[in-house]
Amino acid sequence: MSYEFKNDASVLRPIYEKSFGKMLDTGFRFHSPLFENDPNGAHHQWSLNSIFQKVKKNEDINAPAKKILEVGSGPISFFESMFQQFPEIRKKMHVTAIDYVAPMIKFAQDHNNLDDSIQYMEADATKLIERFSPSKFDTILDAHLIHCLTNETERQNYVKSWKSLLSDGGEVYIECGCSHARFDTTRDDYFFLKDDGILLQQMSGHPVAVRWVPTFVQFQKLLLESGLSLLECELKKDWRLVLDHKRDDILDMDPMVARARLENKK
Ligand SMILES: C[S@@+](CC[C@H](N)C(=O)[O-])C[C@H]1O[C@@H](n2cnc3c(N)ncnc32)[C@H](O)[C@@H]1O
Repeated sequence: MSYEFKNDASVLRPIYEKSFGKMLDTGFRFHSPLFENDPNGAHHQWSLNSIFQKVKKNEDINAPAKKILEVGSGPISFFESMFQQFPEIRKKMHVTAIDYVAPMIKFAQDHNNLDDSIQYMEADATKLIERFSPSKFDTILDAHLIHCLTNETERQNYVKSWKSLLSDGGEVYIECGCSHARFDTTRDDYFFLKDDGILLQQMSGHPVAVRWVPTFVQFQKLLLESGLSLLECELKKDWRLVLDHKRDDILDMDPMVARARLENKK
């Protein structure tokens, strides 16, 4: 059986706008505060800790602030709690946090008390080169955005854009839920296309490609297309991604989480 579905970012945008906007209204905020000891809060702790330690180690008070691009921030940047907890680190970093869902960015801007350290912007991850100048960033944090790029060409172009956006020696940190043999779905409005790693959701009678859930091999292959050096890439078998927002408990079949660090070698 073949499935007809649209998955360009521009087609998905109004769909996300509607469903994420509704979720915001119900109080849903995507991720828990940094450094909290719960399974969702653990996501990206390794990358944030690594960025934090590198900045902290640099004692040169004249060093320019590290320029960070956080892609897919949703309504709150991962850096907000870091800056609240460690205010002294704020002047050493400047974060540009982007999301293309307008209500998310509006919410983030309205609640941002760290104006000079974090700038929220409405921007499409598939159009970064048109938006930002070359070598603008020292670090890119993919804040669980890659799952939303279900169109293969857009996904490939997105990872290729990293090289042009990064300064020499700049780094990318990324996490991605990876499927395994048992990955399936428990919801009857979800359907998983195993070969392509695409999770479809039935919406108003039509299948919509809502998530890319690759195997670990597919994930690594994509990262290599960036042209950056893959310094770390591992599958954390005890980390899980719960894709069903209506469920809190973690099931064995939920995707495991892979994490990677890439560098734009000088
Ligand atoms: C899975 S959520 C992650 C939110 C948050 N960073 C976290 O980790 O909990 C993915 C985010 O990416 C955003 N997004 C999806 N496609 C995008 C695109 N093409 N450009 C920019 N943001 C996008 C969504 O609006 C959403 O806020």
